[in-house]
Amino acid sequence: MQVGIDKMSFFAPNYYLDMVDLAHARGEDPDKYLIGIGQSEQAVLPPTQDVVTMGANAADQMLTDADRADIQEIIFATESGIDQSKSGAVYVQKLLGLNRYARTIELKQACYSGTYGLMQARDYVTLHPEAKVLVIASDVARYGLETGGEVTQGAGAVAMLVTANPRIATLNQDNVFMSDDIMDFWRPNYSTTAVVDGKFSSNVYRDFFKELWERYQEQNQKTLVDFEAFVFHLPFTKMGLKALRDVLPEVSESKQTALMDAFEASRVYNKKIGNLYTGSAYLSLLSLLQNDASLQAGDDIALFSYGSGAEGEIFSLTLQPNYQDVLLTQQLPDLFKQREKLSIAAYEEMFNAGLTSGQDRQLDMTHDSAKFVLTGLQAQQRQYRKQ
Ligand code: COA
Repeated sequence: MQVGIDKMSFFAPNYYLDMVDLAHARGEDPDKYLIGIGQSEQAVLPPTQDVVTMGANAADQMLTDADRADIQEIIFATESGIDQSKSGAVYVQKLLGLNRYARTIELKQACYSGTYGLMQARDYVTLHPEAKVLVIASDVARYGLETGGEVTQGAGAVAMLVTANPRIATLNQDNVFMSDDIMDFWRPNYSTTAVVDGKFSSNVYRDFFKELWERYQEQNQKTLVDFEAFVFHLPFTKMGLKALRDVLPEVSESKQTALMDAFEASRVYNKKIGNLYTGSAYLSLLSLLQNDASLQAGDDIALFSYGSGAEGEIFSLTLQPNYQDVLLTQQLPDLFKQREKLSIAAYEEMFNAGLTSGQDRQLDMTHDSAKFVLTGLQAQQRQYRKQ
């Protein structure tokens, strides 16, 4: 029996920042951001959205009533959780009307935990073939105003439904993974922004990738030739490009061109959304599936997941017949058409506008038309609404 991703869906907030505007405001050459970093726009989180509402908004768009009843586990991967104790999964369960007899859990290991969630889902369904597992990777990437990491911020959520006989892609049992205690990026409990050694984290990312790729090839007797595309965790899209370039010399020039074309398709959406932390590699997978017309059923895709701190994993997926029919292909193009561009001043105000204290507060809802919204705080309880 095959197990894998049966449905995928995405949500990002309705606001964005143009990286050319940001470059001008920060005294940088726009090409540094557009080419050197590989980002053109960045999703900006309004106070009325958080990881819970973004996760609910993503998952809701793909779930039928039958799915809601059949889901046995809700796995919520994030490194920007809204509570130190209660999981985001429990809130999502209620907002979406999901099965009461389901497990709910939140996972954390920087940008990596969505992959752990996906593999936990695969293993559970392998043992319980009738089950469906909902995996949500939802995050807001915050480095701070006027920091080196500011250009690599972003926000959004990817939701995936894992089942037997999946319609998008099977998850092959070929994973290799590794972890090491490394201080390249972390966020202490007292801080709402990450502490990061950006250059060091980029180097660790590449080192993990190279070590794991060698291990993957040894353990699975496969090489780059066996894959139509390599999908990467993309904290900024140049990062994946650097990793891909490290291994491209292993194949012929024509194969290098094909893999580069696939890579370009895999970063179309990430360039305009920014970093999603846990969801980043899966947004890239979505971008590949929706923007690479040369892919076919039966094609194998490799995926590299990385989370600072640090943990990495490589595994492969196999595309299923008519996978295109299941994709929600209009989600991102529609978002890009309708979302509102912010001025630098409006972005800076929004950046500092979230719920930062335990005081009762009613948020201004007039600008958020998403189905699930955060309306404020009452008696220290976050108030969510379906509208
Ligand atoms: N035109 C084209 N490219 C330009 C340029 C220009 N005018 N000016 C600079 N660049 C290039 C640089 O050559 C460099 O390319 P390279 O990385 O291939 O050498 C790139 O733009 C970035 O420039 P750099 O000076 O290194 O940027 P920075 O000091 O501002 O730091 C990060 C960039 C990514 C380290 C920083 O944004 C960061 O810390 N981000 C968060 C951490 C992160 O995401 N880590 C990833 C691992 S999980």
